[in-house]
Amino acid sequence: MSFPYLTLCLQFVNPKIITVDIFNKATTNLGPIGQYAKSIHGYWTFPKLEGEIGPRMKFRGKEKLVWSLNNYLGLANHPEVRQIDMEATAKYGLAYPMGARMMSGQSDYHEQLERELAAFVKKEAAYLLNFGYQGMVSIIDAMVDRHDVIVYDSESHACIVDGVRLHFGKRFVFPHNDMESLRKQLERATKLTQQTGGGILVITEGVFGMSGDLGKLDQIVALKKEFNFRLLVDDAHGIGIMGPTGAGTDEHFGVQDGVDIYFGTFAKAFSSIGGFVAATKEVIFYLAYNMRSQIFAKSLPMPLVIGALKRLELMRKHPEYREKVWTIAHALQKGFTSRGFSIGNTESPVTPVVMNGDPMEAANMAHDLRENFNIFCSVVGYPVIPKGMIIIRIIPTAMHTLEDVEYTVECFAKIKHNLDSGKYKSGQFVNIHQ
Ligand SMILES: Cc1ncc(COP(=O)(O)O)c(C=O)c1O
Repeated sequence: MSFPYLTLCLQFVNPKIITVDIFNKATTNLGPIGQYAKSIHGYWTFPKLEGEIGPRMKFRGKEKLVWSLNNYLGLANHPEVRQIDMEATAKYGLAYPMGARMMSGQSDYHEQLERELAAFVKKEAAYLLNFGYQGMVSIIDAMVDRHDVIVYDSESHACIVDGVRLHFGKRFVFPHNDMESLRKQLERATKLTQQTGGGILVITEGVFGMSGDLGKLDQIVALKKEFNFRLLVDDAHGIGIMGPTGAGTDEHFGVQDGVDIYFGTFAKAFSSIGGFVAATKEVIFYLAYNMRSQIFAKSLPMPLVIGALKRLELMRKHPEYREKVWTIAHALQKGFTSRGFSIGNTESPVTPVVMNGDPMEAANMAHDLRENFNIFCSVVGYPVIPKGMIIIRIIPTAMHTLEDVEYTVECFAKIKHNLDSGKYKSGQFVNIHQ
């Protein structure tokens, strides 16, 4: 008797016999990163950084110089921020307002923050998002229907990719920042929408968080002269950092009017949680009634709203915080390039130090950096990036000093020397459970 025939018969007798338990994957297939969990959990993944958020924190009981937090402006422990977070929590608790914005979660403070954010990024209106990620998914979901076409950058953040995955219509991807390819995809999308009667949504990022390079917003906006599309920009890493007033990467390029929908998060320069979307009054009103992750989820708690108002006030009042991030970033980037390191095409504070080596060398080198030089930063290797490449990503903040920069660049010169001389080929540094 053949196997399919046998299973069919068994199923007829008792369907439970052959139905696979969906929990099986939790032990047999932990996914692209999870498959390495045994050797990396608690050290490379899910590490515990302890102490006050800043350039010096404890990891496994030992002080480290930390370059991996998006506390760009140093607001996480700003005394005024800590004070207002505490006062708002004491006054309102974490529950208020209860319910979703649409039902029972509206407040004057939510509206005030939206007005102030809109003014900051020079848009007519803004709407709060209780998480940036889910917010972005729902912005995309709400803005397109099956007649529309999405055209997006290939290195878009997971939240954009997830939003695109919900789309029932066509989506075209263009290789990262490749403007010729974007033009071709716009030609295809235009032809298609002439048949479907839909429109085109182009999606990119302001600052790409891994590489630090910028979405070519000026060139994309210029394409509006030839093509009819709307532009959505995820500026998670740009808000508060880029542009003459910190209003974002579109301000940096002088194309704020050409960006139709602007997205920012509170999880980076704001050092908090939540986010916002900004556009015309009509579009924001439409989104408020159509973003499913916001309609069917609880409103941002009051301490986060009042806390974001304070953070925004500090951003506007203290351009020197932003200037300091740039001072540190420029010193760091100059330090690396003058010592022959490649830092890719970054034009933002995000600094990727690109080296060549296999996964074993990457682990040994990063371990040496963390344990012996006491520098804590994020390491990206295969399978996130191509085999043979190692990227150590450094995030400068206003709290770092030029001495931190000098020390770090010196240490990198030493580990690079070790890497080039083959010292990391053996497993001597990798006992993470010691
Ligand atoms: C480019 C980008 N978009 C969106 C998000 C998600 O934002 P949030 O952390 O507020 O959910 C992130 C966070 O890592 C990001 O880097």
